[in-house]
Parts: sequence; C-alpha cells; structure tokens
Amino acid sequence: MIFGMAARAESKRRVENRDISDRFRKYIGRQVSYFTHGIHRYPAKFIPQVPRFCLDKYSRPGDSVIDPFMGSGTTLLEAMLMGRDCYGIDIHPLARLITKVKLTPIDQRELKSAAESLIKSIDSDGDDNRSCIPEIPNFDHWFREEVANELATIKKHIWQLPKGDIRDFLTICFSSVIRRVSNSDDFSLIPEVTTFQKKLVEQEKVDFDAKTRFENTVRQRMIDVQDLNKALAKSRKKYKHEPDVSIIGRDARDIDLEDESIDLGITSPPYASAVHYVSVHKLEMYWLDIMAIDPELDKRIVGTIKAYANEYNNWSPGGILPEIDSLVRKVAESDQKSGYILHRYFVDMRKSFDEMHRVLCSDGAYCVVAGENMLKKTKIPTFKLLRLLAMDVGFKSEAVFDYDIINRHLDVPRWNNSAIQQDHIIVLRK
Ligand SMILES: C[S@@+](CC[C@H](N)C(=O)[O-])C[C@H]1O[C@@H](n2cnc3c(N)ncnc32)[C@H](O)[C@@H]1O
Repeated sequence: MIFGMAARAESKRRVENRDISDRFRKYIGRQVSYFTHGIHRYPAKFIPQVPRFCLDKYSRPGDSVIDPFMGSGTTLLEAMLMGRDCYGIDIHPLARLITKVKLTPIDQRELKSAAESLIKSIDSDGDDNRSCIPEIPNFDHWFREEVANELATIKKHIWQLPKGDIRDFLTICFSSVIRRVSNSDDFSLIPEVTTFQKKLVEQEKVDFDAKTRFENTVRQRMIDVQDLNKALAKSRKKYKHEPDVSIIGRDARDIDLEDESIDLGITSPPYASAVHYVSVHKLEMYWLDIMAIDPELDKRIVGTIKAYANEYNNWSPGGILPEIDSLVRKVAESDQKSGYILHRYFVDMRKSFDEMHRVLCSDGAYCVVAGENMLKKTKIPTFKLLRLLAMDVGFKSEAVFDYDIINRHLDVPRWNNSAIQQDHIIVLRK
C-alpha cells in the first residue's frame, strides 16, 4: 500500500468548513462550569459547549457516545444530560476519579450529613496527624508545615470513611484544594514556586488556611451536586431514557468494546509533548496515594516526552504519511529525540483512530477537537495532520468547524503567544 494516497484524494473533496466562534464567544467567562463541570481543574479541558454542539448535531437521545481521551469527563457529563449512553477512557487515574465524581448523583441528605460530620471531626481533631503526610520529594519546597498538618488531618478523616460515592466526592474536594494551599504559583500549569508567588506571599495575599478552604469547597460542590441531581431528573423526564454511563478502560489504543457498537465519538486528544499530565497533578497524586499505583503511567501517555536513548538513537523517520514523515524529519534534524517523540505520537494516534474506526457503527461520526502546538520551536499543525491520519485509516472528512479559544486556563501551550488561537472540530465519518 502506498501510504497517504487515500488521504490525499479525500483531502481534495469539499468539506464543510465554518467558523463558529460567535456561537461560543458568549460562554467564555463564567458559563463553562455549571453543574459539576468545575469540580476539579484539568489541563486542556474543552468548554462543555463544544461537546454539546457535537452531540446536538451528530446524535440523538438514546444513542451511545464515547470519548476515548475523556480527561475530566466534559463530554460524558454533557452526553449524560442529553440522554445519551456514554463511555469514557483515560489513562490517568486522577482523570478517571474526577470523571466518576462529576457524573455521580448523590442523595443530598446523605451527602450533607456525611459532609457535616466530617467537617466537625476535622475541626475538633487536635491530634498529631503527621503520619498521614505522604512522602513527597523536596516536601518543604512544596508545603509549609502548618499546611501539611492541616491537609493530613483532612486526609485522615476522609480515609476513615467507608469506600463509595461520598468518599470519592470528598476526596475530589480535598484534591482540589491541595494545589491552592501549596507553595506553587496557582497560575502555573506544572507546579512551580515562582518569584511572583513568593511576592504574593510576602504581601500576605495568599490564603494558606487548608481547613477553611476545604470546608468552603465541600459546601460549594454540594450545591453543584444538587444542581446535577436536578438536571439529571429533568433530563430523564425529557428524554425518557436512563443513560448508561461507564468508564470502560484505560487506553484509547485498545478499546474494550464490540465492533460497530457506538454511534458517536467526541474527543480532544493529547498533543505531542504539550502537557505533561503526570507533573501537572503530581502534588494531588502524592496526597491521594495514586502516584505509585502506575509507575509506567508516564510512558503510556500518548504524546509523552518520556523516551529512552536506545529507542530513538537507532530510529529513523518514515512509514506514517508523507506529510507527517517530512515534519518529523525536520524536527529530528534539530533534535533526534523530539523527532522520535513526534513520530511515536502519530503512530499512537493512528492506533487510537483504528480502534475508533472499529467500534463506531457504520456511518458513525467522530468529532476530534484539536489545534496547533509547538515542538522544538517548530509549529505542529496537529489538527491538519490528525485529519489526514484519520482519513488514511478509513474515515471520511465531513466538516471542519473553527472557533477562537479565549480562556487561556482551558488551553494547551500554543505555537505562538498571541492571545487568541483557534481550535478546530474535525468531523470524521466512518
Ligand atoms: C486534552 S486531554 C482531554 C481533556 C478533556 N476533553 C476534558 O475536557 O477534560 C487529553 C487526555 O488524554 C489522556 N490520555 C493520554 N494518553 C492516553 C491513552 N493512551 N489512553 C487514554 N487516554 C489517554 C490524558 O490523560 C488526558 O486526560
């Protein structure tokens, strides 16, 4: 087979191409974290209106939807509330926990009583709970002693609760305050103690009160769960459908579903070397005891920068698609390791497209949200190359919708620093 022939023939066909920035512009700001969407930070989240747009356009109530790189579960929550069965996959254990909590309605009375008694026991605990402090390399760099003691007390009481939805909810509330009371700059993607943060501390502008922050978070998030309960009850009535919701596995390159079993896919995949998903949440993962669960996690993340010299030293570019191979070659000329990382990213993305092609029913759509990024000072037009790769796997390209990204917090590092960048929704058809 000559790689890329089908892709190039397809790329000449007309595809619907539309800028839908106006549609989303009004949401940027506050209306992106309704219900439980804002329960925890997650890098490169998309705004919920993006999957909602795709769900609306390409599926009906009762259909099944999958997000193979679900992250914090934005697609799944929207799909569930729109009466679709939804399935999600993510390699990251914290992503799976956030998603689980985001999608789980909890009886309000039970939750309130458990939360109040937890808060009471935390407040009245005068013990030395230092044994609950996890081992974190360079601990004093990240946490003040009094903060660590308070976090340890909160952790002790959550860990004493029976396993289940309420404990998971409180664990996510706990996790969401860890970074805020650490010494790290709250605006950095990866935890780092910046000069800016040190200045804020000197000016006494940082609130290190972990207990109060935790209690306020629990109260706020309980309101979110209440909103979720109401929205779900409304959606069940409207769509007359009890959605099946499931986190089905860990790897988008090996999907545990039957052939032709899903109606629609929606995802925003990782990029080559753009976000180091393990480092972003390392402080939370240490405190939640999930750092050690999967020592190979870093290696299995699509787009990871982890690569060993024996892998890339004897490797040479080629074998994917001419457009991808030539870009990989260019990057490899300036840095062999980065070239290899980029090559491996597209090999992995091809595997995930193969799997999506297999599980989608005939004529099923797959909406892939992507933009451009940067690797070793080279612009990587990821969305264009992913579209070609998907076509080479057998998808038809039906439409490309463009929209401005304005909220930098939801963003991944881009190929230049301008304030507004565009993301693209590539609509593929099996
Ligand atoms: C851009 S984020 C998705 C964000 C998501 N749309 C949201 O709103 O939260 C990409 C996700 O892909 C996940 N990922 C990376 N490699 C993976 C793999 N091999 N299988 C499944 N998920 C993977 C990362 O852990 C990350 O959560």
